[in-house]
Amino acid sequence: AAAAAVSAFLGAAGAQAQDACQDGEVVIKFSHVTNTDKHPKGIAANLLAERVNAEMDGKACMIVYPNSQLYNDDKVLEAMLIGDVQMAAPSLSKFETFTKKFRIFDLPFLFEDVNAVDRFQNSEDGQALLNSMRKKGLLGVAFWHNGMKQMSANKPLLLPEDAKGLKFRIQASDVLQAQFEALGAVPQKMAFSEVYGALQTGVVDGQENTWSNIYGQKFFEVQDGSTETNHGILDYLVVTSTEFWDGLDDGVRDQLAQILAEVTAERNSASTAVNEQNRDLIVQAGYVVRTLNAEQRAAWVTAMKPVWAQFADGIGEDLIAAAQSYNA
Ligand code: LMR
Repeated sequence: AAAAAVSAFLGAAGAQAQDACQDGEVVIKFSHVTNTDKHPKGIAANLLAERVNAEMDGKACMIVYPNSQLYNDDKVLEAMLIGDVQMAAPSLSKFETFTKKFRIFDLPFLFEDVNAVDRFQNSEDGQALLNSMRKKGLLGVAFWHNGMKQMSANKPLLLPEDAKGLKFRIQASDVLQAQFEALGAVPQKMAFSEVYGALQTGVVDGQENTWSNIYGQKFFEVQDGSTETNHGILDYLVVTSTEFWDGLDDGVRDQLAQILAEVTAERNSASTAVNEQNRDLIVQAGYVVRTLNAEQRAAWVTAMKPVWAQFADGIGEDLIAAAQSYNA
């Protein structure tokens, strides 16, 4: 992997990048769905590849496939189980068919900010979640932050009633479905790569995502404006297959895990700043970002928090209480 330019932009470039791996190197294809520039995940994945390719030259070679060019998130985990891809970082909302435990991260207004999420993920309870899909062949090796979600639609959203009757694109999560149903809205599960087109053509009216995704996918261009709701978290699980991970030589696995831990710490501490930069870029481009006053925000909390009760049994009241304890 001496040729460090291993972030692939096209299928053909991907094949060339793979050729850049040397014989005898463990090839690690990292597939993800976001852009690479000014994006918490895009930056982290590229940094990880850069370091693996520099520091593990001769032993391992990582190729990053961003922008859904290799797989959508609904396909990537199956691809991983058959060995077509070795690493990915889907959002925690996309593991529904493998575990119900991650539903905790989708409960609206549970975590007050990314720092609270970070504290929970680093707790014993949080770390145990990394192993929750071992029996299904998947292993979490790190949590990566994106940030808090915001809402947007083709009309201003200031109160929960404003969302009533609107169609919202959601990630493939039953909690998120319930969240929009609680608003009297119509949720629709859809792949990330299709959202811009769906907003543009009116297949859906609105969406929820982080500033980096709203900016990176240009959702703001086809919405009336965005509302700073900070109503939930969008974070990632860096995931691999147990078969791949357990099959690595001890030395290779340890070095890879060490580099991953360092990249995770470095980039997670910068994720909030990256999202703020994206928010600023939306404002600078002349698009509206609405903020909520305390009363408006309280109305969203009242409308959405009842969703917790629908999922509390599956997630566990204890785990919810534990997670809440990490709010400042
Ligand atoms: C989404 O589908 O909206 C996000 O999970 C995309 C991502 O990877 O941030």
